[in-house]
Amino acid sequence: MNEVNIGNINLTDPVCLAPMAGFSSLPFRIMCKRFGSSYAPTELASARSVRFSGIDKSFRYMRIDPAREGISAIQLFGCEGEDFKAAILAIFEDPRLTGVSVIDINMGCPVPKVVKTHSGSFLMTDPCLAASIVSACKEAVRQAGRDTPVTVKTRIGFEASDKGCPELAKAVSEAGCDMLCVHGRTRPQMYSGEADLEAIALMREAVRPSGIPFFANGDITDGASAKHMLEVTGADGLMVGRAARGNPMVFEKILRELKGETYTPPTDKMRKELLMEELEGRLEYLPENIAVREMRSVMPFYVKGMDGAATLKTKLCRCNTVHEVREVLALE
Ligand SMILES: Cc1cc2nc3c(=O)[nH]c(=O)nc-3n(C[C@H](O)[C@H](O)[C@H](O)COP(=O)(O)O)c2cc1C
Repeated sequence: MNEVNIGNINLTDPVCLAPMAGFSSLPFRIMCKRFGSSYAPTELASARSVRFSGIDKSFRYMRIDPAREGISAIQLFGCEGEDFKAAILAIFEDPRLTGVSVIDINMGCPVPKVVKTHSGSFLMTDPCLAASIVSACKEAVRQAGRDTPVTVKTRIGFEASDKGCPELAKAVSEAGCDMLCVHGRTRPQMYSGEADLEAIALMREAVRPSGIPFFANGDITDGASAKHMLEVTGADGLMVGRAARGNPMVFEKILRELKGETYTPPTDKMRKELLMEELEGRLEYLPENIAVREMRSVMPFYVKGMDGAATLKTKLCRCNTVHEVREVLALE
C-alpha cells in the first residue's frame, strides 16, 4: 500500500477504523491507533441537532482527543448544506472540538429513522443535494480560515438492484470532497450478504479524474481480504469495521500480513486487558454505571472465541460495576 494524502493529511499505512455507532468510543479509537489504524472517525452526529440544539447535546458522539488520537475526525449526518455549515463552524469554535483534523459526511447510513429525514444513504438518490452539502462544508472550512479536509462515506447504492453509484461519487468529488470511502453494500442489505467489490471499483473509477484518494470498505478481516479488496477495487486505502469490534489488534494483523510479516495473535489475558482499557478509558468521562452499561454490547466481542465465552458473555452483560467486570474476567 502506498501512502495517501487526504487534503493536507499524510497517511503512511492507510488502513482506518470505520465509524461504528456504539463502538467507536474515544478509548477504543485510541487503542486502534496504537495497533496501526491511521485514524478513526467518530460515530455519526446530527448536523441539524448541532446547529439548533448546540454542541453539548451531541458532544458524547463527537468526543475527540487530538493529543492522544493524532488525526481526529468527526462524522456528521444531515440533509441540508446550511445545517452542516453551521455545525462545522460551531465545532471549530468549541474549545473541546477545535482540534478536529477531518470532517466526514455520512452518506451511507441505512437506518430508516435517518433515511426518512433525507440524510445518510438517502443522499445517494440525489447527487445534486449531496454535492451541495460537500460545497457547504468546504465553504464552512474556508470561512473559518482553515484547511480541514472534508471526506464522504457512502455505499454502493440505495436500491437492492444498484451495482454502484458512480453519479454520487462523481458529484461529491467534483464538489471538492477530499476523500471518498465506499462500503460495498446497498442500503437494504444493511450488513448482510457479501460486499460487492466490482461495484466499489465502479465508484473508484468515477473519482479517478478528480485525483482524490479512494477508500474501500466491507468484510476486511485480515491481510488476504485486505489485499483482495485493494486489487479488485484499485483503492488507495481501507476502512475496517466489524472485524475490529473487541479486536483493535486487527490493524496490526492486517498491516503485518499485507507486508508478508508474521502476526502473533494476543493471548486471552491480553484481550481481557484491552477490554479493561476501553472500560477504564470510558470512565474518564462517564459515571461508572453508565460506562459499564454502555460496554455491555461491546464486551462480548472481546471474549469471542475464548474458552467458556458463552458464560463469560452472559455474566459480563449483567455487570454493573468495574469491579464486577474484573471479577468475571478473573483479572487481578
Ligand atoms: C454497529 C455498527 C454501527 C455503525 N455505525 C456507523 C456510523 O455511525 N457511521 C458510518 O458511516 N457507518 C457506520 N457503520 C458502517 C461501518 O462503518 C462499515 O461501513 C460497515 O460495518 C462495513 O464494514 P465492515 O464489513 O468492515 O464491518 C456501522 C456499522 C456497524 C456494524
